[in-house]
Amino acid sequence: MPIAPLPDSVDQVAQLLASQQYVTERHLATTLYLAMVMGRPLFLEGEAGVGKTEVAKALAAGLGRRLIRLQCYEGLDIANAVYEWNYPRQMIEIRLAEASGEISRDGKGKLEADIFSDRFLIKRPLLQALEATEGGPPVLLIDELDRADEPFEAYLLEVLAEYQVTVPELGTIRAERPPLVVITSNRTREIHDAVKRRCFYHWVDYPDKERELEIVRRKVPQAADMLSRGVVAFIARLREMELYKAPGVAETIDWATSLAALDRTAVDPEAVQATLGVILKYEDDVAKLTPERIAQLTDDVRADLAGQR
Ligand SMILES: Nc1ncnc2c1ncn2[C@@H]1O[C@H](COP(=O)(O)OP(=O)(O)O)[C@@H](O)[C@H]1O
Ligand SMILES: [Mg+2]
Repeated sequence: MPIAPLPDSVDQVAQLLASQQYVTERHLATTLYLAMVMGRPLFLEGEAGVGKTEVAKALAAGLGRRLIRLQCYEGLDIANAVYEWNYPRQMIEIRLAEASGEISRDGKGKLEADIFSDRFLIKRPLLQALEATEGGPPVLLIDELDRADEPFEAYLLEVLAEYQVTVPELGTIRAERPPLVVITSNRTREIHDAVKRRCFYHWVDYPDKERELEIVRRKVPQAADMLSRGVVAFIARLREMELYKAPGVAETIDWATSLAALDRTAVDPEAVQATLGVILKYEDDVAKLTPERIAQLTDDVRADLAGQR
């Protein structure tokens, strides 16, 4: 099967993402383009819900490549990230060999070679990403790397340097063609310099109002125009407040969807009050939005929208 070519300009990258309803800005499209051209991992850092994970998904879907996702968490180890021997199956194989009397003095070596073969290897995301895939190298998403432990980072660095892993019983497995790698971090801690140095880095910020409105238009087409504008303006105001967790793009989309489902056509105090749980997920933040504060914010939003026209 022929491999679809990679985009050959920044514009094409932006178009490719747009074809998957991902609204990007020039800077991100440029960094992504360069990462692809130069075969380097893309490192995306930013607050939760700003659209980091979605970049990898849109890229894979747009290119028609397989998406392989490694979700990081505390305690993630090689057995879960790279490979693991299928111990129960190996045991069964040994028992069967024993029962059939196959294990004679010279049969032992053969059995050992057999149970440490591909057939008994459970491939986890990093190893899967090195395998040849129909349609071209996959997109490897290493999601929320800040959640993994530092030793895992060191291991990952080795994999990213050579695009190969060594399974002692089998040998070294090397990617014929390296995957397209996207790493994300919510920055709950700093990622080691050495990892960042291998990658091209982009800080993903909250979108500006214009781009967020475009996102809402694409993702929530059923929302009335005034509602979408109101939602975006209100969320922008909220992000200026001192909140424990400012709403991300996911919240903007959920909120526009919710208000449209409630047949709202504009953002008014009563609608905000009724749907606060869609945008704010911490009690302390909810408590900050007193009725007076909400009234103030909706007034501000009305002024913002009047200013737009
Ligand atoms: N630029 C964008 N264009 C379209 N949808 C977006 C954009 N940014 C974020 N989203 C949407 O917002 C939600 C959260 O994005 P996600 O990638 O999961 O955030 P993160 O990984 O940064 O926490 C997803 O539903 C995604 O589709
Ligand atoms: Mg994410």
